[in-house]
Amino acid sequence: MAALPISTIDPMIDQTLLRLRRLAQKDSRRFPNYGEANRYVWAENKNWLAGFWPGLLWLAYHATEDNLFRRQAEALLPTFAERLDRQIHITHDLGFLYTLSARAQWQLTGDRAARDLALRAAADLLGRYRQPGRYIQAWGAVGAADEGGRIIADTMMNLPLLFWAAAETGDKRYRQAAENHTHHSIKYLLRPDGSSHHTFFFNQETGEPDHPATHQGFNDDSWWARGHAWLIYGFALAAHWCENDEFLDTARRSARAFCNALPDTKVPLWDLRLPADAPTYQDSSAGAIAACGMLRIARLSDDKQMRERGESLIEALLDTCLEEDPQGEGILRHGALHIPKMWAPDAYLIFGDYFFVEALLTLTNDVPDFWGPGGE
Ligand code: GLY
Repeated sequence: MAALPISTIDPMIDQTLLRLRRLAQKDSRRFPNYGEANRYVWAENKNWLAGFWPGLLWLAYHATEDNLFRRQAEALLPTFAERLDRQIHITHDLGFLYTLSARAQWQLTGDRAARDLALRAAADLLGRYRQPGRYIQAWGAVGAADEGGRIIADTMMNLPLLFWAAAETGDKRYRQAAENHTHHSIKYLLRPDGSSHHTFFFNQETGEPDHPATHQGFNDDSWWARGHAWLIYGFALAAHWCENDEFLDTARRSARAFCNALPDTKVPLWDLRLPADAPTYQDSSAGAIAACGMLRIARLSDDKQMRERGESLIEALLDTCLEEDPQGEGILRHGALHIPKMWAPDAYLIFGDYFFVEALLTLTNDVPDFWGPGGE
């Protein structure tokens, strides 16, 4: 029996839409990022978080056809054009940023200018592809001495913009770069026991593998939960775009390892391999992202066990992380933005809210496919 009956999901969706409607009535040129108490902190379009708010608005527009959501999402798009024009903090996060803004707008409204903007972003992302290593450089200026050789787990969720651009333009370079990067992520970010490194360095001159390192995990030997969640969903999406069984098996193996490392609450801690004296913050966002990945795996292979795993993650978030304060602006509590820097260690996170709503809509089988090739 499904862990989450529709009679549970539908009222949850109504409740989240109410919160989103209140939030959408606020500032239309800025972006909720993370929570402080029961409020969101809003920022300009200048960091990796900016895509998730338009993404939520587009999900809400799809669910309700309420033009408030559409108007607000469309009003944000010029800030994304300006960001590319002025090259404001451009990294591998172009996928997160332009998939949920420009691609989503094109997908739901047929706006060709939005499509063109998403393609411009994809071209910039392809510009971060490094030969001879055959990977997408995550951070820093292309070829920078300190960052030119680094890949990170999160990039797997930026690749859908490249897969989409390949399908949209017929230019095979986009897909080749994304596939090569996926193979490298499997080979160098996954450990033999199914856990993962957050990042890995190559020699950028020769492309030879060098060493793993963490950035947001506890240490180099630990296992950053959200990075692993990005891998699960990213591998599943690469499997969907490429119809590739190796990618799908890897997604499934990564999902099982993640589930086996969860505490009894089934809400991930921020790092899945913590020593006894380490801080034990939860990261609800990692649970929501991983659930979306598991639901995608289930959809691709009619895997009922994987659907149940995804549902049980969402059920755990509903049980213990849902915002209960009616005035609270966010949906999910207990996200961990960046524990090593102690940024928002126990807060709403806009991407946690995004993937939670995406998962709820996925469970109703009525969700636009912003990341995959599926259309609506
Ligand atoms: N992509 C950055 C993060 O997940 O914190």
